[in-house]
Amino acid sequence: MDRELPEGLFGTGVVGAPMAGGPSRPALAEAVSRAGGVGFLAAGYKTPEAMAREVDELSASGLAFGVNLFVPANEPVDREAVLAYRERLRPLAERLGVDLPEPRWADDDAYPAKLAHLLERVPPVVSFTFALPPAGDVASLRKAGAFVIQTVTSPDEARAAEELGVDGVVVQSSAAGGHFAAFTSGPAFAGDLPDLVSAVRAAVGLPVLAAGGIGTPQAARAVRAAGAAAVQLGTAFLRTPEAGTNPVHRAALADPAFARTAQTRAFSGKAARGLENAFMRDFADAPAGYPTLHYLTAPLRAAAVAAGDPQGTNLWAGTGWREAREETAAEVVARFAE
Ligand SMILES: Cc1cc2nc3c(=O)[nH]c(=O)nc-3n(C[C@H](O)[C@H](O)[C@H](O)COP(=O)(O)O)c2cc1C
Repeated sequence: MDRELPEGLFGTGVVGAPMAGGPSRPALAEAVSRAGGVGFLAAGYKTPEAMAREVDELSASGLAFGVNLFVPANEPVDREAVLAYRERLRPLAERLGVDLPEPRWADDDAYPAKLAHLLERVPPVVSFTFALPPAGDVASLRKAGAFVIQTVTSPDEARAAEELGVDGVVVQSSAAGGHFAAFTSGPAFAGDLPDLVSAVRAAVGLPVLAAGGIGTPQAARAVRAAGAAAVQLGTAFLRTPEAGTNPVHRAALADPAFARTAQTRAFSGKAARGLENAFMRDFADAPAGYPTLHYLTAPLRAAAVAAGDPQGTNLWAGTGWREAREETAAEVVARFAE
């Protein structure tokens, strides 16, 4: 039998996507939830303690909200290739006057501590991305009362998530801003988002949330018509005053000089979509190796942001970025509400 969404949880059918690296600060999650959507906190790149403080802040509001965790994928990293990439970055580092860090080979060792904090606090929704978590973690969160979601990018990944025992899936197409969440190798699903939603709906009996390149209410209607219970929007919220989007990123999203988005591994070692800039063009052949490359390029990106240079930092954006407006989070929720 098909599982259903808990009544009222995704009331307006609008979810504020988790966006690590600044945008998803508590003010954004709270504004989205207060407007009748479901706001998300992003645990990625944060200490367990910082994440816990944000969860406590949102819990105090009494609103429905979610917390998103990166699951360490521990993919093998070609160390030689990463070290060669580090040498290629050196002239840029020297120009910017920053030291390139020694490569950090381990993935997010904070995952167990973050999970423990969530089991104590039990936010209404928890979502996982980048890999499947251990089945025991899903079971513990569900037993504690959380609605557990896995991000998937194909029908096969959705089936694996269903077998694991999650309550719902976010299906993310490759049009999405930020990292592409695929955890199985192979080509990305070839169709557009409504096709992907239909294919996943046919494959599993779970509620489906749809994400990736949804820039207009018409696009939201198309994925709902394909069977999505809610739309998860990231880029649409990046220019809201409540988002913690850095000023360089914010300005670039409104700058007509940026002509297109593209997927790149140059910043983090994992495919992610952003406004195409000089860094992406210069390092188009960067090796795989997440999150080693993320930490390696972090000081370069920070220096570019500090210098106000949009050509040297990641400007995550989905294909619908031109439709993103400077408006409040509540206005975004209202425009995309069912
Ligand atoms: C700046 C930025 C950061 C993101 N960080 C995360 C994250 O921490 N966790 C996650 O599951 N997805 C993350 N994503 C992907 C979003 O959850 C979502 O899939 C995507 O934004 C949807 O596509 P759209 O941006 O075209 O709306 C991020 C996206 C952006 C734009």
